Amino acid sequence: MDQKRCCKGNGSSGHMCGHDEYLKQIRGRPISEIETPALMVDLDIMEANMDKMMQFLEHSGAGVGIRPHAKTHKTPEIAMTQMERGALGICCAKLGEAEALAEGGVPDILIANQIVGERKIRRLVALSKKPGLDLKVAVDTRENLEDISSEAARQGGRVGIVVEVEVGLRRGGVRTVEEAVELAKLAATLPGVWYAGIMGYEGHAVFMPDYEAREAAANRSYDILLGVRDAIKEQAGLDSGIVSAAGTGTFAFAAKRRGLTDIQAGSYIFMDLRYGQTAGVDFANSLAVVATITGHPEPDLYICDAGLKSMTKEFGTVAPLPSYGLKVIDMSEEHITLGPDKAPLQLPSLTELDQKYAKPAKRPLGVGDKILLIPSHCCTTVNLHDLLYAVRDGKVEDGWEITGRGRFV
Ligand SMILES: Cc1ncc(COP(=O)(O)O)c(C=O)c1O
Repeated sequence: MDQKRCCKGNGSSGHMCGHDEYLKQIRGRPISEIETPALMVDLDIMEANMDKMMQFLEHSGAGVGIRPHAKTHKTPEIAMTQMERGALGICCAKLGEAEALAEGGVPDILIANQIVGERKIRRLVALSKKPGLDLKVAVDTRENLEDISSEAARQGGRVGIVVEVEVGLRRGGVRTVEEAVELAKLAATLPGVWYAGIMGYEGHAVFMPDYEAREAAANRSYDILLGVRDAIKEQAGLDSGIVSAAGTGTFAFAAKRRGLTDIQAGSYIFMDLRYGQTAGVDFANSLAVVATITGHPEPDLYICDAGLKSMTKEFGTVAPLPSYGLKVIDMSEEHITLGPDKAPLQLPSLTELDQKYAKPAKRPLGVGDKILLIPSHCCTTVNLHDLLYAVRDGKVEDGWEITGRGRFV
């Protein structure tokens, strides 16, 4: 691994990388040789997902771009790939993630969340002074904006302010148009900050199972957001540079709305079982946890070395790729037990990964063999791992330190 990009090289993530020697040995080797449980991404599939999203946005013709959410991958190498493939900038949720992305060279970062408290604001402003970095943060109260401004004026930093508007999720965001206009005016006049635009995330809509209901809910949110944009223009004379919304479940609706500047989708690059089962989300699973079968003590029972410490399950049970013909029986901290399944979960989004890795796998499976398990939620599963294996044609092309992992402070 490039020393500069490894956490040991940049010295700020607080833990040792220690993967360099191992990666030297494993680069170019088949994934059957990696130590497990391990997180892998199939690069061809991930890159195709990125390109598909870009093409969709271009063809929809409303001028909506992408500012992908890095909460999904937390990995500067992937953020840089997204930038190289046309992203306008990168979103993240946490100051620690922003620091990790900036350390990895990402030039344009929107923290799509509130950063509150004296010490954190000090860190935020310090980060904004990084040469070549355009740093923006979501703000939804006057107090927070004034705190950021006075610290920025004191330190000599410059923070872009994106006014967050509540559009139905009932999370962050101003509740009234008047507040949005007031914050935009203030951001445009206070020292140390500049008015960068508005955002409103329709997280209540992204997983709605009914496609039409989801579209209607998303459009109601965009109506609110675009109404606020117009009010800021009319009442404060300010153009909103950024008008940002949407996730992987709603990008297709946002892409049609002229006036939105970008979508904040994150999961589309990796996918997971939940998004694989969400109507209209037409990307392919690229992310898997590679596990080793460590026991086969009964004809119908396999034990592997993944578990709750390498895969999350708040969005439901994880699943092996369908062609193994197995299903999860139980999941504990360091074990997953599997048994035969005559009707494994077949999702269109799994087809490519299945064809590449599970179909050609040796049969019958036995102790020591590797299997690929698909997370039910990609973002929180990534957060459990230090290293992401970047795999092409079944071989390890690289290993990327997930430097934003655990950086939720
Ligand atoms: C502020 C914000 N934007 C966008 C997203 C979209 O992410 P995803 O593509 O994973 O749905 C999220 C998800 O939590 C979010 O919190």
